[in-house]
Amino acid sequence: MMKAKIVYASMTGNDEDMAEILEEDLQDLGFDTDSTEVAFADASDYLESDLCIFITYTYGEGTMTDEIADFYDQLKELDLTGKYFAVMGSGDKTYGEHFCENVFDYQSAFLACGATEITAPVTIENSPDDEAIAAIDHAAEEMADKLDA
Ligand SMILES: Cc1cc2nc3c(=O)[nH]c(=O)nc-3n(C[C@H](O)[C@H](O)[C@H](O)COP(=O)(O)O)c2cc1C
Repeated sequence: MMKAKIVYASMTGNDEDMAEILEEDLQDLGFDTDSTEVAFADASDYLESDLCIFITYTYGEGTMTDEIADFYDQLKELDLTGKYFAVMGSGDKTYGEHFCENVFDYQSAFLACGATEITAPVTIENSPDDEAIAAIDHAAEEMADKLDA
């Protein structure tokens, strides 16, 4: 059974909702899943899984909160060659060029760790609506297809 590790950062619950939707999808598709809030996770947890997922808010236009900056520093030390990754997150388009910026920061970090992106980043606005849920569902199906879960 393929293992998927989800780590999420959420202040007001939107990214936590995304993590719950994705975890349920992946369970339905046959993955062995584990989901942890970033403050309680260590990036080395990813070494135990086939698929590494990070779901994050963006607060602060170009900066990271301490909790995701700490995890980012841990992540950068890892060799994730041979593993797949996906990033997702909720932001707000009124922040213009900074929309979901931390999602893309993490995409770059996973690539630098040698991991392979399994599906394009899913970026949504605020709390997940029907369209956002469909995008998460679609991403989960792509993960299952590529990993033959
Ligand atoms: C002070 C503040 C700063 C924010 N900065 C950004 C930003 O730079 N880019 C962005 O896309 N969204 C920004 N947002 C919007 C949040 O990322 C968005 O509401 C997200 O859904 C929150 O996720 P959460 O509920 O998981 O905490 C900001 C929100 C607040 C309150």
